[in-house]
Amino acid sequence: MKNIEIIGCGMAKAGKVVSNDDLSKIVETNDEWISTRTGIRNRRFCTEDEDAYTLAFDAADNAIEDAGIDKADIGCLICATISGEYITPSMACVIQKRLGLREDIPVLDVNAACSGFIYAIEVARGLLNGNGEKYGLVIGCEQLSKLLDMTDRSTCVLFGDGAGAAIVKLTEGGLYESFLGARGGYEITVEGAGPVRSKISMEGQEVFKFATFAIPKCVNALFEKSKLTIEDVDQIVCHQANERIIDHCVRKMKADPSKFYKNMDKYGNTSAASVPMALCELKQMGKVQAGSKVMLVGFGGGLTWAGVLLRLGDRS
Ligand code: ACO
Repeated sequence: MKNIEIIGCGMAKAGKVVSNDDLSKIVETNDEWISTRTGIRNRRFCTEDEDAYTLAFDAADNAIEDAGIDKADIGCLICATISGEYITPSMACVIQKRLGLREDIPVLDVNAACSGFIYAIEVARGLLNGNGEKYGLVIGCEQLSKLLDMTDRSTCVLFGDGAGAAIVKLTEGGLYESFLGARGGYEITVEGAGPVRSKISMEGQEVFKFATFAIPKCVNALFEKSKLTIEDVDQIVCHQANERIIDHCVRKMKADPSKFYKNMDKYGNTSAASVPMALCELKQMGKVQAGSKVMLVGFGGGLTWAGVLLRLGDRS
């Protein structure tokens, strides 16, 4: 198998900023509880003119522009999401049509909740190795605001809407290690198609324990496989569920906190979108660029966990 690298990133923020104080007018909560327990201060919800599909399209369009490739050269499209309007068509198929991508390429959604973007990267690598195409488009996109029970203060304060995308390139040499797994369970659920609109429910403390187990497990497995150490890696981009989860793992691993970017204060937990959005911001800030080694780590519903260690590249 050849490796892949990420050569372009894009993101789309939902238009409506919702602060902790705004939520305290809807449910019995307050800024102090939310920010000290989670690190979240604001999240963004779609406006009436936006939805998961407009966000996914914009993020993908930005990633294609950032990579500087012709969209006719995209050889697969995978979208990680749990919040598409339809079970079929997949969100990926809708975006394929809107972007005007080729029809002779594999196009599918991946459901691995908050680990979804990383699962999708792994799927893209497999598909590109299989079909011999050079570039793949990988999107993580969620409109979680429509899945929130706004009477349940233990979940409705945590989540937000957003999208991130990456162009990956099949490459000779380079660096690529992955570590993916799952432990089937009902700790986070969104019911499937049915007469009642689905809502997120979560056993917060169980998920917290799981997350603080999953992140070090992924990070250590990837270092073991690659024979690299934390000093060799530029950034470890974790799923942005809760600041305390990341801080706990940094302490447990005795790691340099500056290598663990956090932006949940602005966006809340955007599930599959959080890792590509964080990566995109890091690139926009110049903290990572072509040549950087990055680790992407996710955990979430399923329960699933996933990590990849790869290099950022360019289209050459
Ligand atoms: N505002 C004020 N009080 C609240 C709120 C709120 N928004 N939510 C809960 N409380 C109250 C509870 O009712 C409880 O009150 P009680 O003691 O009187 O019964 C108290 O606060 C403590 O509740 P806990 O649930 O024990 O709070 P905890 O410290 O565990 O924090 C949290 C909850 C933030 C959800 C935490 O458990 C967490 O972050 N879990 C991990 C979530 C996560 O990482 N999810 C990622 C995956 S999501 C996905 O895959 C889709």
